[in-house]
Amino acid sequence: MSVSRRTVLRLAAGGCAASAMVSRASEGEGLARRAARRGLSFGCMVRPEHVERGSPLLPVILREAAMLVPENDLKWRALEPARGRPDYSRAEKIVGFAERNGLKMRGHTAFWYKGVPDWAKPEIASPAAMPLALRHVQEVVGHFRGRIAEWDVVNEALEAGDGLPGGLRKAPFGQAMDAGYIADCFHAAREADPNARLYYNDFAVEYDDTPHALRRKGVLDLLAELKRRNAPIDGLGIQSHLCYGWRFTPRLYRTFLADVAATGVDIRLTEMDVADFHAATDIAQRDQQVADHARRYLDTALDEQAVVGLMCWGLRDRDSWMQSERWTQRADGSPERPLPYDDQLQRKPLWDAIGSALDNAPQRVRRRSAGPLPKAAG
Ligand code: XIL
Repeated sequence: MSVSRRTVLRLAAGGCAASAMVSRASEGEGLARRAARRGLSFGCMVRPEHVERGSPLLPVILREAAMLVPENDLKWRALEPARGRPDYSRAEKIVGFAERNGLKMRGHTAFWYKGVPDWAKPEIASPAAMPLALRHVQEVVGHFRGRIAEWDVVNEALEAGDGLPGGLRKAPFGQAMDAGYIADCFHAAREADPNARLYYNDFAVEYDDTPHALRRKGVLDLLAELKRRNAPIDGLGIQSHLCYGWRFTPRLYRTFLADVAATGVDIRLTEMDVADFHAATDIAQRDQQVADHARRYLDTALDEQAVVGLMCWGLRDRDSWMQSERWTQRADGSPERPLPYDDQLQRKPLWDAIGSALDNAPQRVRRRSAGPLPKAAG
């Protein structure tokens, strides 16, 4: 028998939480419900093993998340390591789990320059690139038609430092994806699943420094260009890989979000975590610094009605990609603590900060351009 969300809730409500697994999941209200109360959604990145029977994370995921996104299992290179033989089994484990438990899915990501399999690179660098990439977008979005609520159709297409028009990224395997190429990906995705919400997703737009400011401009220009080309885009995903100690000015960021909202798209914070390599050595102090930093960011972001929800890039510190990224390593050599749960599955101050930011977010009202609001939790 798989542990369904209903089972966990029933056991918790009945006060008969027999196993440690269930009792931990029943500690107070999860973030999913707190978000839903404001008309928002909360979710997280998962790996297939996190949702396997017996995984200690499983009840925590059921408690905290209303939406899941696979870390790597929907990326092209993971799905189709050898040409013509896509393997959906790992992604299916997560999508099936979500379906059995009434959770929504995000698809990440139909096209990402870093996700292109090696076999596709030579071809994609040539003028024949479009058909190959579009075929893939159509294949993956179509495979999950009706089962994945929201797709990052294109991920990280902007890099102003590359000096190309529109701030577009020069992909390492060849030509940039120009706006026409990106628009075609959205058309292909819409055709493959007319009901999925289609997002452009990017990182490093949150802080004051010049590269972030340039990417903010690039995003606004790209949204305008996609609209001009009638590309069916519904949302902007802002990864929100935060970093304690980087300069964040709420007014600047709030203006950016308002400018994005004015183009008519939804916004989701899609991969939030907080790098702590500039924070204190003392764990209690460090965790509080991380929480305060996130709180300031979330209070600013959730103030914008167009923001429909928030996803963390994992729930538990040891699962974070930041443990192995070079740019996030701490001078004292200790592991990063970027996520709401520690390795013993205890909630951290970051969990409280996210919860309070959700509680304090203005109630969502239906916007003309937005899709349906999530059902309010009872
Ligand atoms: C990361 C994964 O977490 C790693 O396991 C993988 O090695 C590289 O990709 N922005 C994104 C995500 O859009 O796909 C990245 O995920 C993190 C940064």
